[in-house]
Amino acid sequence: MADATGLVSLDEGSYYQDPAGFFARLRESRPVAPVRMPGYGRAWVVTRYADVRAALTDPRLAMAGHRWPGGAPPRPREADNLHAHMLHKDGPDHARLRRLVQKAFTPRRAARLRPRAEEIAAVLLDEMAAASGGVIDLLGAYARPVPITVICELLGVPVADREWIAVTVAAYDKPAESRRVTRELAAYFTGLIAAKRAEPGDDLVSALVLAHDKGEEDGAEDQLTGTELLSSVFQLVMAGFDTTVNLIASGTLALLTHPREMTRLREDPSLLPAAVEELLRFTSPVNHATDRFTTEDVPIGGVVVPAGEWVILAITSADRDPAQFPGPDRLDVGRDAGGHVAFGYGIHYCLGAPLARVEAEAALGGLLARFPAMSLAVDPRELRWRPVSLMNGLESLPVRLA
Ligand code: HEM
Repeated sequence: MADATGLVSLDEGSYYQDPAGFFARLRESRPVAPVRMPGYGRAWVVTRYADVRAALTDPRLAMAGHRWPGGAPPRPREADNLHAHMLHKDGPDHARLRRLVQKAFTPRRAARLRPRAEEIAAVLLDEMAAASGGVIDLLGAYARPVPITVICELLGVPVADREWIAVTVAAYDKPAESRRVTRELAAYFTGLIAAKRAEPGDDLVSALVLAHDKGEEDGAEDQLTGTELLSSVFQLVMAGFDTTVNLIASGTLALLTHPREMTRLREDPSLLPAAVEELLRFTSPVNHATDRFTTEDVPIGGVVVPAGEWVILAITSADRDPAQFPGPDRLDVGRDAGGHVAFGYGIHYCLGAPLARVEAEAALGGLLARFPAMSLAVDPRELRWRPVSLMNGLESLPVRLA
């Protein structure tokens, strides 16, 4: 596992194809371990549940104003205008941004999306039933379109642009494409903000534009700069899309490979909310939290991580820690998976968690009810996972619907 410098390296194939296994080996051998992150230098990876949860609330682990030891990857100037959002801020700046976005992302707005998510899922299920001659890629046909449609409706992205957004966002984590994609997304969201300013709608981008313009007019302390506005819109799309795609696709895979649990859930749909929590724990749509950096020497799990170091909190591992979840590698849709950290913990706890739950319940509930004989069309060992450190997502999911 270790390279010539003695450091474990993340780019060995087993991480991308089996992050839970990779992290479990670290958790058992060295739960706070320096690891080589290819292209970025050294990071300290934290793998025990108790340590991850404590670190997620530790203000000495900061998000803003730090640099990766290997230097930042080259990115276009426009990227700076997209990263001034709450997940890259600490303390009062974070609180201000979160408050402003939370105010626009009202519970009414999120609740309204439940029937819409169910309708969107039903239309796609009809299309799949009509088109299918047998095997389909569930990722492309269902797991992707549900969240992109919901998030675009929430933000007020015109219907004609949604397919472009889905394709462009999906290319964001491909190094060869990330410069082009960043530039295009920055230009697109700048245009969307201008359009909403000219003609506001009942959507989240219009509400954020209003918060920005009103804050400027009133000279309010609690205001959003133009860059923060653009970044927040960008972040809502990035944070709300891929994550939920992964939950729907990996959740479906987990059920297909645990047929007794799938039958149990189909026969008792009241288990659905608990099952979604268990699938969040078990599949971990996000492998680790966003990069954090020590502002001083910080003891974590008995190891002192020096000041100025990069720390990676392994969510996938925390949620499979046997010290917290008995039999953690067993999927049990009736288990109380409460306390999982799939949505993070502390001040950066996922702002979109209620919406993600609504979407997953609509998508998985609809799918199980519509295709009771659905099965995996390939050997699970043939499935490939995207070679990305942060996100834990399948490349495709071939299923037989009947
Ligand atoms: C299954 C789906 C999702 C998962 C697993 C997920 C996971 C996470 C995690 C782990 C964090 C914390 C990161 C950290 O502390 O480093 C986070 C933050 C965040 N998420 Fe989600 N997320 C999901 C869906 C969504 C959706 C649908 C939205 C919005 C529409 C959203 C918006 C956000 C925002 C704005 C933050 C930053 C909160 C802050 O910094 O205060 N997420 N999410």
